[in-house]
Amino acid sequence: MTSESIPFNKPAIVGRELYYISQAIQQGHSSGDGSFSRRCQRVLELALGVPRVLLTTSCTDALEMAAVLLNIAPGDDVIVPSFTFVSTVNAFVLRGATPVFVDIRPDTLNMDETQVERLVTPRTKAIVPVHYAGVGCEMGPIGEIAARHGIPIVEDNAHGLFSKYRGQNLGTFGALATQSFHETKNFTCGEGGALLVNDERYVQRAEIVREKGTDRSRFFRGEVDKYTWVDVGSSHLPSDILAAFLLAQLESRESIQSRRREIWERYYGDLEAWAGGHDVRLPVVPADCEQSFHLFYLLMPSAESRKGLIRHLKERDIHAVFHYLPLHLSPMGQRYGGSRGQCPVTESVSDRLLRLPFFFDMTEQDQDRVVEAIRAFRLP
Ligand SMILES: Cc1ncc(COP(=O)(O)O)c(C=O)c1O
Repeated sequence: MTSESIPFNKPAIVGRELYYISQAIQQGHSSGDGSFSRRCQRVLELALGVPRVLLTTSCTDALEMAAVLLNIAPGDDVIVPSFTFVSTVNAFVLRGATPVFVDIRPDTLNMDETQVERLVTPRTKAIVPVHYAGVGCEMGPIGEIAARHGIPIVEDNAHGLFSKYRGQNLGTFGALATQSFHETKNFTCGEGGALLVNDERYVQRAEIVREKGTDRSRFFRGEVDKYTWVDVGSSHLPSDILAAFLLAQLESRESIQSRRREIWERYYGDLEAWAGGHDVRLPVVPADCEQSFHLFYLLMPSAESRKGLIRHLKERDIHAVFHYLPLHLSPMGQRYGGSRGQCPVTESVSDRLLRLPFFFDMTEQDQDRVVEAIRAFRLP
């Protein structure tokens, strides 16, 4: 008997997604900023306590908006982890900034806060912590450094919606923060994102930048009698059809998060003893962090054992994947002076990290199959 393939990720319908989509279409407003977009934004503003949330077509888009709002320009530096998705960095590089790569902590794989201050110069125009796996960066010390030097923080919170650090929601520490609703995230609409504007000074300009550089949002609120080109900008609004899908997911927040929590805790419980006996490290979540249960990884003892385990699982039709390659060693990173040895923890972790299948509809049988296959693996 052949068993079914277990994918790494699978999008799910968890509530009223299809009903809301049909409503968005029947309502006659399927472009951006319709009622579903406004409802999503309101849900997030209230749940997180953020003054203004603006849906975007991706987290990448929201990061690009953040770079425009901070007036990033050639000659500016931006402090970013090397262990992240390319958009965290590219958004600032697009405006002409130079990325200054900081290494990560070996435990949470987040920006190493002890290494940030020595990278600050008068050219530093932003610090961009990434909350890896939805576990909060050390926002206390990072916030103090940023405040001491008057540098704005942009949180890349693609993984960490509804996570907390010392009781405060991730995405509420920076002047600006970004979310992703990409298919692989806990809450999704296929492709989507949001800009969280915590510093109210950026609200009006954020609306303009998102609306092709026009004051159309003010026009729709009746604050001006016509709208026109007032600033730089682009088209960052998602369709209301996508927002309709997203609203249903946000409304199912409790069931999505509790199911993901069960999956995460089951992996942890089932693999803890095996990991301890094989020099494999499981995720670390500090006591002052409430995580989002976004992903579950194994940190293998070597690159070879990671490769072997991915192959071993693939032979059993189980799809495990690696994650970020060090950005400072990429062809683009090297153009900014990146070299081997610059971020040693990133370099080592990137070679050894493996993410296990993790999705809402995953059954206990699926999980048992993954765990049994891992236990049957002979490390090289
Ligand atoms: C940390 C991080 N930031 C940004 C992004 C980009 O998100 P999006 O696909 O919504 O643009 C990702 C994508 O996975 C990510 O992992």
